[in-house]
Amino acid sequence: AASQMWGGRFARGPAAIMEKINASIGFDKRLADQDIAGSKAHAAMLAKQGIITQADADAIRAGLDRVKEEIDAGTFTFKVELEDIHMNVEARLAELIGEPAKRLHTGRSRNDQVATDFKLWVRDALDRLDGGLMSLQSALIDLAEQNTDTVMPGFTHLQAAQPVSFGHHLLAYVEMFGRDRGRVRDARARLNECPLGSAALAGTPYPIDRFMTSEALGFNRPTANSLDAVSDRDFALEYLAAASICAVHLSRFAEEIVVWCSAQFRFIKLSDAFTTGSSIMPQKKNPDAAELVRAKSGRVVGTLTGLLMVMKGLPLAYSKDMQEDKEPVFETDDTLALCIAATEGMVRDMQPNKAAMREAADRGFLNATDLADWLVRALNMPFREAHHVTGRAVKAAEDRRVGLTDLTLAELQAIEPRITEAVYPALSIEASLDSRRSFGGASPVRVKEAVKAARERFL
Ligand code: ARG
Repeated sequence: AASQMWGGRFARGPAAIMEKINASIGFDKRLADQDIAGSKAHAAMLAKQGIITQADADAIRAGLDRVKEEIDAGTFTFKVELEDIHMNVEARLAELIGEPAKRLHTGRSRNDQVATDFKLWVRDALDRLDGGLMSLQSALIDLAEQNTDTVMPGFTHLQAAQPVSFGHHLLAYVEMFGRDRGRVRDARARLNECPLGSAALAGTPYPIDRFMTSEALGFNRPTANSLDAVSDRDFALEYLAAASICAVHLSRFAEEIVVWCSAQFRFIKLSDAFTTGSSIMPQKKNPDAAELVRAKSGRVVGTLTGLLMVMKGLPLAYSKDMQEDKEPVFETDDTLALCIAATEGMVRDMQPNKAAMREAADRGFLNATDLADWLVRALNMPFREAHHVTGRAVKAAEDRRVGLTDLTLAELQAIEPRITEAVYPALSIEASLDSRRSFGGASPVRVKEAVKAARERFL
């Protein structure tokens, strides 16, 4: 027990099962770089403030560099009995440099240490997420640019609604991922206050300089309240919340990929690189990557609800419950990075089937709204009445199993006598698409502008 760093008042060591439930080294070794960076900043500050000697700080710095080399090289031995990354690093440092290592933990606690390390880690995760999403946006914008005129049916209720273009549809996701990146940046800005020097919960009597360590670690300022600093995990929750919303966006896109790949739609084709076969049905090429992206969003949302439940009801300040904050974050970082990369891969791989999209746009009366709009414009009919007249025309076409433009002028005039030949050009799918020129609309005129604007806004 005395070998334990906190072993002074203990006569015996922990039960094996105690050691097992208590240890976090199995997963928090992923904080090694951050832990070493935090300790270096802390040691430099202690020396500058005259709390330890410059010689000790130099020894600590050189020793920590060696520890990092060992970890990077894979020669470092992580020990469960040393509980976590913080004590593993410190214990190895003591083996390497002796006495000065024992002065490193002056004026800090593992509570502010872990909060600092974890914030540094989540900050990097946020930056990685931002970068991954930008790369995905770039792939989507490239594909959208090639498809500003590619007519496809737009849907509501998964029922054919009005013509849009494949490019316009893809740019919808560019907007979603853009807002995801905005949430990432917001979370980063709020996260970026340094807990180091809050010590166990109340601060420290040593004349430390928290502004110095905060700056050295790239934070904007030290946290204002020592109790809050060691208890706050909302930075991790915000990361998981932003990640969850992003995962839901990815999942919706993945669902569309699955639908578009089906024999019923045939809107896109994924190559052999992004499909798998069936062990029994030789004709199959299944979009498994899209299905897994769709499914893994559940895992990401699970990490958010999991950590929310860990944190609810915890009294201030630190409780060991908070050690459970790391695995959900690591899991989400791994999962989301994989999903974003796979999605980008599919976007760069997919071949739109323009003929199938165009054909689908001829089914389902996508030009019905255009007929109603023509009645309003040409005959000054109130829209509600035009809607009704159009409904009767759709019914007539449906009874004859044809499209609206296949109805003869006589048939249309039987429904509304003032309709003229001039209605037909307005009912073409291309005209319908082109007419939607309102800002943000589906007209190729607007979508070409939107592609350019998206590049400027996001890339
Ligand atoms: N491994 C711990 C964690 O991840 C470090 C902090 C331990 N602090 C303590 N008071 N036991 O939360």
